[in-house]
Amino acid sequence: MLLMQHIAKVYRTESVETNALRDFNLSVKQGEFVAVTGPSGSGKSTFLGIAGLVDTPTGGTYSLDGTDVSTMNDSARSRFRNRKIGFIFQAFNLIPDLNLINNIEVPLAYRGIKASERLELAEAALKRVGLGSRAKHYPGQLSGGQQQRVAIARALAGSPALLLADEPTGNLDSEMARGVMELLEELHAGGATIVMVTHDLPLAERAQRIVRVKDGHASEVTRLSSAFTAKGGSA
Ligand SMILES: Nc1ncnc2c1ncn2[C@@H]1O[C@H](COP(=O)(O)OP(=O)(O)OP(=O)(O)O)[C@@H](O)[C@H]1O
Ligand SMILES: [Mg+2]
Repeated sequence: MLLMQHIAKVYRTESVETNALRDFNLSVKQGEFVAVTGPSGSGKSTFLGIAGLVDTPTGGTYSLDGTDVSTMNDSARSRFRNRKIGFIFQAFNLIPDLNLINNIEVPLAYRGIKASERLELAEAALKRVGLGSRAKHYPGQLSGGQQQRVAIARALAGSPALLLADEPTGNLDSEMARGVMELLEELHAGGATIVMVTHDLPLAERAQRIVRVKDGHASEVTRLSSAFTAKGGSA
C-alpha cells in the first residue's frame, strides 16, 4: 500500500539546513496498523506529512497503492489525497471561523460529496467522538482534547483507506485516549490501513507493528511479546 525508498527531506532556512529524513525506508501493507515512535525532532511528523501527500520529499521515491506519487503534480496529488487519505494533524489544523460540522465537511467537499450527504457523515463522525451536541460550536470554544477529537472526526468522516494520525491521543486523558484507540481499531477492523505516531508505549503495543524513527531513519522494533511468540509460544 505504502512504499518509501531512500526518502530524504531537507529543510533549508537562510542559516540552517536540517536533514529531517535521511535514507528513510518503510513499507506498510494494505490493512496493517503500524505505530511510529521516536524522540522529539526525529522526523516522525515529517514522514507522516510526506506519507499523507501534504508535503513532498527532497529525494527518494514514494509509491502509494502502486502509483508513484513522488512525481505527481500538485493537483493530481491533492486529488489522490482527498480520495484516499484521512489525516489527523498533531496541531489539529481546525479552521477557527467554521463551526465543528463545517470543519468536518471541508475534506468531504473537496471530494465532491454533496451537501446533504456531507452533513450526515459529519454529524455521524462528531457523534462517534462524543461531541454530537457541539455541532454548532467553534474550535475556539473547545478544550484541547475536544479539538483533538474534532480533528479525529474530520479524518474519519470520509472512511479513508489510509488513516495517518500524528499523536492522536496527545492531548487526551487516559480514558479518552483508550476511546480514541478503540475507534482506530474499529476502523482498522473495517479494512483501513493505519499509521499512528505516538509517544504512548502501551498504545503503540496495541498496533501490529512498531516502527522507531531516529535521526531521520526508520527501524523495526522487535517486541517482547512477538519475541515470545517466535520462540514457539502459542498466542
Ligand atoms: N518547516 C520546517 N522548517 C525547518 N525545519 C523543520 C520544519 N519542520 C520540521 N523541521 C525540523 O525537522 C526535524 C524533524 O521534525 P519533525 O516535526 O518531523 O519531528 P517529530 O519527530 O515529529 O518531533 P515531535 O515528536 O516533537 O513532534 C526537526 O529538527 C525540526 O526542527
Ligand atoms: Mg511531530
